Amino acid sequence: MANATVSLPAGVDRFPTREQSPKGNLDALSREILVLKRKLNAVILAHNYQVPEIQDVADYVGDSLGLAQQAVRTSADVIVFCGVHFMAETAKILNPGKVVILPDRDAGCSLEESCPADQLAARQAANPNLYTIAYINCSAAVKALSDVICTSGNAVKIVEAAPKDRELLFVPDENLGAWVMEQTGRPMTLWQGNCYVHVEWTHGVITRIREEHPGAPLVAHPECTQAVRMLADEVCSTEKMIGYCKASPAQAIIIATEIGMLHRLKKECPDKDFIAAPTEHCKCNECRFMKLNTLEKLYDCMEDLQPRVEMPDDLINRARAPIERMLEISARP
Ligand code: 13P
Ligand code: SF4
Repeated sequence: MANATVSLPAGVDRFPTREQSPKGNLDALSREILVLKRKLNAVILAHNYQVPEIQDVADYVGDSLGLAQQAVRTSADVIVFCGVHFMAETAKILNPGKVVILPDRDAGCSLEESCPADQLAARQAANPNLYTIAYINCSAAVKALSDVICTSGNAVKIVEAAPKDRELLFVPDENLGAWVMEQTGRPMTLWQGNCYVHVEWTHGVITRIREEHPGAPLVAHPECTQAVRMLADEVCSTEKMIGYCKASPAQAIIIATEIGMLHRLKKECPDKDFIAAPTEHCKCNECRFMKLNTLEKLYDCMEDLQPRVEMPDDLINRARAPIERMLEISARP
């Protein structure tokens, strides 16, 4: 248990969930979280896909790259990571001496699941000339086997910096990998993984929404398939979407990425209209892993200092080198 104690309102033995809670209760819970944060000397880092009320209490909201950079910079004793597990794991790898907690340990990622470390090790053993570039959406064990890590925000730069005399293996997202190949012209072998959310958008459904809003540009995440990316005016990471939308003269913009992004976009560009690209099936643009985190679980994890991200020192040390290589390349002009 944490040393900090926060009392619930009289007559209440547990904070309500988002579904049960009137807005006033959420506001009360947010205030308690901020009190706990000060007592713990904690920093709350949240991904752009988190529910609005979590984004609103966070110290920093951003993409995977920005979150990793913030994790390096923080002087807080406790990192409260509101995102999915691999993101919190990355923060721990960069801060082995700090307590790193997350609201729900089960917040996984379909890309991480698609690349078991033993299968990657077998592929590498069969070809010693492989240079492995791993998208940050993978386990610590896969990071430890990789030469360098990338995010959607810096993948082009990382691939351009890869040694010219090595064969490139890109894991685990075949769509991001294909997009980077288009941008760089550098051939790569692509691991056959994908994001179960981003592959839901199809050429047909995106064509229809574009026809309904002829003046609205389309911004898509590179985890979308090539059939969707080819229809986009801009393909970029979630953080770069903010910059594109701020700079765009368009009044309305269609967004093909996880639905949580719209809260951040509306806050950053209050005068613009954002249209969530629809999928063929309802609610498929919501990542079930990202949405496991709720304000109530955030409060609980800060009160209990659990669940914590823990890893053996040896794994942390092996996984840190390719992440640091990424941060160093990323910082180059
Ligand atoms: P970003 O780094 O662009 O935010 O992407 C993370 C992610 O998981 C996209 O599905
Ligand atoms: Fe993973 Fe896709 Fe969810 Fe991003 S949106 S965390 S890639 S499952």
